[in-house]
Amino acid sequence: MNDMPLKHLALIMDGNGRWAKERGFKRTKGHEKGADVIRDITTYCSNHSIIETVTFYAFSTENWKRPRLEVEFLMKLLNTYLKKELPVYQKYGVRFQAIGDMSAFSKPLQKRISETEKLTQNNTNLTQVLALNYGGRSEITATVNQLIAEGKTTITQDDISQGLQTPYSDIDLLIRTSGEERISNFLLWQVSYAELYFSQTLWPDFNADELDTIIQNYTNRTRRFGGVK
Ligand code: FPP
Repeated sequence: MNDMPLKHLALIMDGNGRWAKERGFKRTKGHEKGADVIRDITTYCSNHSIIETVTFYAFSTENWKRPRLEVEFLMKLLNTYLKKELPVYQKYGVRFQAIGDMSAFSKPLQKRISETEKLTQNNTNLTQVLALNYGGRSEITATVNQLIAEGKTTITQDDISQGLQTPYSDIDLLIRTSGEERISNFLLWQVSYAELYFSQTLWPDFNADELDTIIQNYTNRTRRFGGVK
């Protein structure tokens, strides 16, 4: 492995519905299997000391447009996932953090999220971020409005970078599964210089071996950040 930085890995998990349909299951089965994959990928990342943060796109601001029962299922699944996950976070030294507008979630779910954040806040091995009711444009707009409210009249790029809900450093590598090649409003500011990787695998079939291969490929790329090397 060369010295390519990989402090921050981001994943757009796509293809749960197609995975389920191919097997004659309900779409929700794909989400259930998808949640297990989040655990496996997080464990892999916690064993790779160069990765400091892994961010998963778990629920976008557009996902409310899905059928009501599917949205309800995703909310329930998130609640059970976090409950089951706590011992795993503690075992692997993973700090959990959520980004996005959680105010639209039920009070018990908001409580589960904030309690999990609190209980894992001293874990230092890896930070797992779940983007929940998240949209990149909203995040940037909210940041600018906050800066204006603080009295800033001229706003710099650094002001925005530091004011974002995700001040965890820029993304080094962004992976999207299922063959779709879009950013879908995910971490728009933070992906400016990210290397992008599009996998054909549907998210429920994604695994640590494939991530390992992608990381090998990534470390062989040369990032120029607009300069020459
Ligand atoms: C996209 O698949 C996936 C999502 C809606 C987000 C990811 C959600 C999970 C992995 C579920 C579990 C999450 C947590 C945090 C417990 P899709 O339904 O759009 O697939 P399709 O494009 O094949 O229909």
